[in-house]
Amino acid sequence: MHELQCVPHPVARAKLSRLRDRATDVLTFRRLVYELAIFLAVECTRDLPVDEYTVQTPLTATVGHRLATTPVLMPVLRAGLGMVEGMLQVIPEAEIGHIGMYRDHDSLTPVEYYVNTPAHLPGRRVIVLDPMLATGGSACAALAKIKQRGADDISLAAIIAAPEGVARLREEHPDVALYAIAVDERLNEHGYIVPGLGDAGDRIFGTL
Ligand code: PRP
Ligand code: URA
Repeated sequence: MHELQCVPHPVARAKLSRLRDRATDVLTFRRLVYELAIFLAVECTRDLPVDEYTVQTPLTATVGHRLATTPVLMPVLRAGLGMVEGMLQVIPEAEIGHIGMYRDHDSLTPVEYYVNTPAHLPGRRVIVLDPMLATGGSACAALAKIKQRGADDISLAAIIAAPEGVARLREEHPDVALYAIAVDERLNEHGYIVPGLGDAGDRIFGTL
């Protein structure tokens, strides 16, 4: 079982506070999601396997390293899209799949509407992107889908996680490595994370 890994960086904490602020405008919100995704990308890729090869410097030959396999980014639509560019700053060679999923407002259960993944997933690091892990329903459904398609080395990168979502993920997908900038207090009666930041998709895309 993987333990939840929080990003304890003070700069990331400061950015998250601005992201939470209800007065933060859409452009700034989007940029902060992008910047926080860079912090998450560094953490999610820290243990990627590398191959060695010989590099000729102007002076001599030395041992070089390159990623053993090409990672895959898998944003959960809509809000996960806001994290893709930040991730690509760290791993520009990543391939990108998409999982379209929204949470039914009344039942809070996920409804899948689109799935498109790179053809070959076994043996590659697949990083699922979604800024909000609330009940965990969407994340668990997304993880089940990509496992069905052969993914066997999966990380989930969230900006804010609720304890309820973390517990559900640990129960249903103990093999998945979970990264978050922060774990908040709880969910409210509408399934929103408290203190949270509101609806991430609406704030990224200006559909409030
Ligand atoms: C949000 C968020 C997650 C989901 C989290 O998406 O981006 O995908 O809710 O909630 P859960 O953990 O309880 O499943 P939403 O359903 O609002 O869709 P959207 O991004 O298209 O607005
Ligand atoms: N989805 C969001 O965007 N925000 C929450 O607080 C919960 C689910």
